[in-house]
Amino acid sequence: MATLTETRTAPPTISVADRPSTLTIKPIAPFAAELTGLDFSKPVSGSLLKEINDIFATYGVVIVRKNGPTTDDQLIEFARHFGELDSVAQHRKQGIGCRVPQDEIFDVGNLNGDDQIIDLSKDPGKVASGNGNSLWHADGSFNPRRTSLSMLRAVELPPKGTGGETEFLDCRAAYADLSEEMKNKIDGLVAFHSLVHNRKVANPDSPLFKDLEVLKSPLVKHKVAQIHEPSGRPTLYVTSYTHHIDGMDLEEGKELVKELFQHVQQDKYKITHHWEEPGDLVIWDNTSVLHRATHGAYEGKYRRDMRRVSVFDPSSYGFGLNSKEDYWKQALP
Ligand SMILES: [Fe+2]
Repeated sequence: MATLTETRTAPPTISVADRPSTLTIKPIAPFAAELTGLDFSKPVSGSLLKEINDIFATYGVVIVRKNGPTTDDQLIEFARHFGELDSVAQHRKQGIGCRVPQDEIFDVGNLNGDDQIIDLSKDPGKVASGNGNSLWHADGSFNPRRTSLSMLRAVELPPKGTGGETEFLDCRAAYADLSEEMKNKIDGLVAFHSLVHNRKVANPDSPLFKDLEVLKSPLVKHKVAQIHEPSGRPTLYVTSYTHHIDGMDLEEGKELVKELFQHVQQDKYKITHHWEEPGDLVIWDNTSVLHRATHGAYEGKYRRDMRRVSVFDPSSYGFGLNSKEDYWKQALP
């Protein structure tokens, strides 16, 4: 495989021009596009699958308006084409997220097991995770085995204008704009990621995290600069879970993480997705974009039923610098 240095100046190798099928792509940003013409009720054939993979490689955010999968099973079936799916089996054992029966579905709306709007005043854990998800992140970067594609399906949406938008950042463009000096500096560096770090930053006053120390909590390792293998383009992998740099003075590493994280958050790399109606589906590639949820007036007031599946990253970066044993230990009952 080519090294990052060899690859980082190469142009994108994927072209989605001359597509043979009925799929239509309408770019809305260099890294995001609306997709029409995909029938989620039908099997995905070999050539169609290749075409879809090429689209996902080119666009880190793919939006399907209204005509996404009509059931959770359809979403799961579709997602399985792109790799092994993450599961909420562990959450279920702890009594979390039991509203939806399928283990592959992450219930990320605001409804409880009785199908009622969650009372946030009585659920500090939900508040904490909501705040954490409102920071820029890549799903699963705090896991030894990270996520590539996330697919989020709107089942029920609050009234328009009450918030709940999802925002995205283009990490490949952000990497490309780094100075040569910075590219050389971060080439080969490995960062530690921590769920606790994200939650502490997002919830500075919460007693849930006050006494937890990042360095004494689970940490996983992923490279800071990577090749996004589906496109061959280099990218930056620094999220709100990223804490410090392996082998670097702790404070110096935190400063570098902060500098890179601030760089990728510039408005020129950002788009805001407005959910419009049930049936909307958004697919994003956590290995080339960051995202965040936004708060809104709907919270505690209007129903918002959102369901996600997460595909484990099948690329050579999938396990980062973590041992597969750690992942399996974590996954076992
Ligand atoms: Fe997320």
